[in-house]
Order: sequence, then structure tokens, then C-alpha cells
Amino acid sequence: MGPELVIAGRAFIGGELKETEIGITDGKIVFIGPKADRGGDRIDIGTSRIVLPGGIDPHVHFRDPGMTQKEDFGTGSTSAICGGITCVLDMPNTKPPAMDIESIRDKKARLRKRSYCDYGLFGAITKNRSPAKIAPLVAGFKLFMGSTTGDILTNDDSAIARASQDIISSGKVLSVHAEDNNFLLHEPEYDCTDHLRNRPSAAEMNAIRRLSPYVGMKINICHITTAESLALASSLGFTTEVTMHHLMFDAGRGQSTQFKVNPPLRDIKTRESLYKSFEEGSITMIGSDHAPHTADEKSQEFDYAPSGIPGIETTMPIMMHMVRMGTIPLQRVAEMCSAAPARVFGMNKGAIEVGKDADLSIFDLRNSEQISVTKMHSKAGYTPYDGWSAVFPDMVLLRGEVQLQDGEFCGEAMGEDIIG
Ligand code: DOR
Ligand code: ZN
Repeated sequence: MGPELVIAGRAFIGGELKETEIGITDGKIVFIGPKADRGGDRIDIGTSRIVLPGGIDPHVHFRDPGMTQKEDFGTGSTSAICGGITCVLDMPNTKPPAMDIESIRDKKARLRKRSYCDYGLFGAITKNRSPAKIAPLVAGFKLFMGSTTGDILTNDDSAIARASQDIISSGKVLSVHAEDNNFLLHEPEYDCTDHLRNRPSAAEMNAIRRLSPYVGMKINICHITTAESLALASSLGFTTEVTMHHLMFDAGRGQSTQFKVNPPLRDIKTRESLYKSFEEGSITMIGSDHAPHTADEKSQEFDYAPSGIPGIETTMPIMMHMVRMGTIPLQRVAEMCSAAPARVFGMNKGAIEVGKDADLSIFDLRNSEQISVTKMHSKAGYTPYDGWSAVFPDMVLLRGEVQLQDGEFCGEAMGEDIIG
């Protein structure tokens, strides 16, 4: 019996582009290389397109349940597929927060058969609940050390210490919003510079420093913003995650609430040195921190507007545009968008290898186009990248099923929870 489906063309395998055939059966890659034994469907992608492992976004806020006016799992995961992402890890600051067995079971039941990409859920670390109880249900844990959207702040060394043994024995990752709440100020804010002044980079450094006792714990520092805190986190053996907005934008964005985000956009020099670290390949992975709010909410005065930037549909396409321009190697995309998050969170995904899930994103580097808010699928209805050049995928497969074809979404809600 041959495979159900063969994809023929150039694919990124083992660190390089190879002309090959990828055989897929039951959603898994079953062979790589020319095979005589065929019979199933065949997709020949031609000479100008390339196959990459599907993107894995380790950090999204799909707002479901409780805030579905901002986003829901259907729109969020449609956006994901259209941006080349086939698996997301969803943050727990939903309503109610995903923080105990009941809320996580309810959230799982609600999401079943509603997602177009695969997903995993984070469970929140809170003061008085044991992480051991929720460990079997979640893809990872999330700790908010600084206050932000949602009400699940746990900036308390004794609570973190209490949770640590359970987290270590679960073998799961602790993703951390590393802003020490004690360093945050609450002065009135009129623009991005005020927001930065209220949330200094020392807050990030100190939060990471406070995690230094937990060697042996798989700690992942989310949305890292400075080269200094990156160096500290890496020296402690932590993995790190960066967002496109912290790489691309600085606090010189005036009163535009679109750029209000936590942690805040830093000054130009800080952004430049973070970008250099990214170029050198010293950051483990890229996460969108897709955090949509409604246009109405964002149109309030700066001080009242909620923090967060949507980005799931644009992260990988902007990276592919960097590849097109020759500013980063294709290897960086495959590593930061796929291989690294799969390795860190222990997923059978993230590489084109026999036995892995057949999650594939196919791009044509000749197809550069302008990002337009009218073409985005998020409920946010705005993007700070409007007008930027990007290379969007023209085909995306989730476990062997075509979810996007000729650049058009054609998905089925077949996404599954990676934890079950
Ligand atoms: O700007 C942010 N928005 N930072 C966070 O940590 C949370 C996020 C949200 O959920 O809106
Ligand atoms: Zn976040």
C-alpha cells in the first residue's frame, strides 16, 4: 500500500532544502524520498515553492471563553492557518481563567471541534492551587509576575517556591511573564514613552533574577525585550521567546494605543541590541503574543486602552520576507518557528521527519505582498504591520489535510488538543 498523499517538491529537511517526496498516511509523515510504490493523491508543488514544517506559536491569547468579542478560537485559529501556523499554545487569562481542573476541563470541552489548527492550553500558576492537579491537562504552565490583562497575578516568591516541586515533577514547561510587579509604576500615561517609564526593563531583569533558584525547572521567558535579560535568562539555562513587535518597534510611537503592550516597547537602542541577538540566533523561539482587543477598546484614551498587539497572522510571513531579502537564513525560520517550540514543549511536530505529524506550510518566496488589515482574519480589525511586505503561505496542511490552498483558507475545524 502506498501513502494516502505525496507532496513532491523542495522541502526543508535536516537543515537544508532538498528536492524530494513526502509521503503522508493517517496524518503522519511515513516516508521522505522518492518511492516507487504509489497510488494515492499527489501534490506537485513545482520548482519555485518550498515546504517548511508548520509553524508552532508558543504564545497566543485567543480569548475563548469569556472575551469572544475580541477573538474566539475559530477566528484565532483561522488567522493562525493563514499565517502558516498549525499549532498554538493558548494562554490562561481567559474568563474564567484556566487555573483549576474545572475551568480547564470546561475550556477544553468548549474548544473541541472548533479549532482549525492544533492547540495546547496553559494552566495558570496561582497562589493556593496545586499545579500537580492540572498538570495532566495542560501543555505547560504560565506564571504572571507582572499585572496585565486578566487577574491572575502571582508575584510572590513563597507561592512560586511552593509550586516549584510540582512543576518540576510534571516535566512541563513554566512560561513566565517576567515583569516584577514591585518595579511597576502607575503614573498617568499619555503615550508609549510614559508606558515604558511605568514598566522599566529593570522589572524584567529582576523577575528573571528571582527565578534563578529554580535550576532543574524548565523555565521559558516569554516576550524578552532586552539583550541583558536575554543573556541572564540564557546563562540560567532558561529558554527564551521574542515577539515580532519587540524586534520591530520602539517606544517612539507616540499616542497610538495600537502599540501599547506589556512588556512595553523599549527605546531604540534596546530594540536594536535585541534585534542583533535575534539576527545572531541567540533567542530560542518566536511567539506572536497575539493579544487582540476590539478597535473600540483600543480607541479609548491611552491610559485606559488595554495592552496587547495582534500578530499571529503576520509573524511567520514577515520572517519569510526577511528570508526573501536575505537578512535571515531559512534555517532561522524553521528553528525559531517550528523545531524549537516543538522541542521545548515536547510535541511530535516541528520538523519534516518520518513519524512526525504532517503539518506543512508551503511558501513561494517570489510572492511578496503587502499586509493589509482588510485581509486579516482576526477579530481585532487592526494590525501595526499594515502596508508591510510579507510572504504569506500559499498552502498549509494540518496532519495531512489541506487547510489553505492557493492562499485561500479552506479549513475544517479538525484541530485537536495536543494533550488530548
Ligand atoms: O500586552 C499584553 N496583553 N501583555 C500581556 O501579558 C497580556 C496580553 C493580553 O492578554 O491582552
Ligand atoms: Zn501574552
